[in-house]
Amino acid sequence: MSTANAPLADRLKADTSAAHVRAERHPFQATMITGRLSAAGYAQWLHQMRIVHAALDRAITTATAGSLLSKVADKSHTKTHLIDADLATLAPVSTTPLASANHAASLSSTDIGAVGMFYVLEGSTNGGIYIARALQRALPTAGTSFLNPYGEAVRTRWQTVRDALNTLPAGAHDQIIAAATRTFDAITNLSEELSTLPDCHSSDGNNHGPVINITKPHNPAHA
Ligand code: HEM
Repeated sequence: MSTANAPLADRLKADTSAAHVRAERHPFQATMITGRLSAAGYAQWLHQMRIVHAALDRAITTATAGSLLSKVADKSHTKTHLIDADLATLAPVSTTPLASANHAASLSSTDIGAVGMFYVLEGSTNGGIYIARALQRALPTAGTSFLNPYGEAVRTRWQTVRDALNTLPAGAHDQIIAAATRTFDAITNLSEELSTLPDCHSSDGNNHGPVINITKPHNPAHA
């Protein structure tokens, strides 16, 4: 747990680290990072993430000058078009919006909610690069531009976001952290819901295999 007057980016990382571990270690994420998710399962996941990102992208592109969101996010962070490009590389699947995806999307309806959501979804590009590599090995023709939108620039881009977060007024910090935690929980619930879909069982038929925690060497928050 961080101290209340630490910079917001540090507080976000420390105070949501348990929620990050829960999201990262969910068996559905483990199926992705170990390259055992089927192409249909990957498509199902992309469709649900599209619901969440379409809402956040709308908040980003319509944010008014002076809003907290406009101080940290801009059009270069939008990702719905990347999801569409990746879906175009996969066979179509029959899909329906899941409750947790709709719930996660709704968190962007307030300025502070959208900032917390942006922290979580933009931050996930840090781990996405590893998931993209695993998926590419398992599904070589599948697009992974959403998981890995920035390539080598991911760390510098993330530092820019952290710097911008640290300019936000202290009075909003607690609520932003609460919104980020809610977003992590919604994403974990989405993994849970996705796990119930037949498409989302891993290629070996076992959705609950060993979790490889590749973040340990990189992320003190996981220690
Ligand atoms: C198998 C799944 C995952 C892996 C392997 C993973 C891995 C990582 C890694 C390596 C970092 C960089 C840590 C650092 O060096 O500072 C990171 C950061 C982060 N990840 Fe994940 N992650 C996973 C899932 C997720 C999910 C599902 C989310 C939420 C949607 C998420 C959100 C974040 C956030 C917000 C950060 C930034 C932390 C900060 O610096 O404040 N991750 N992750």
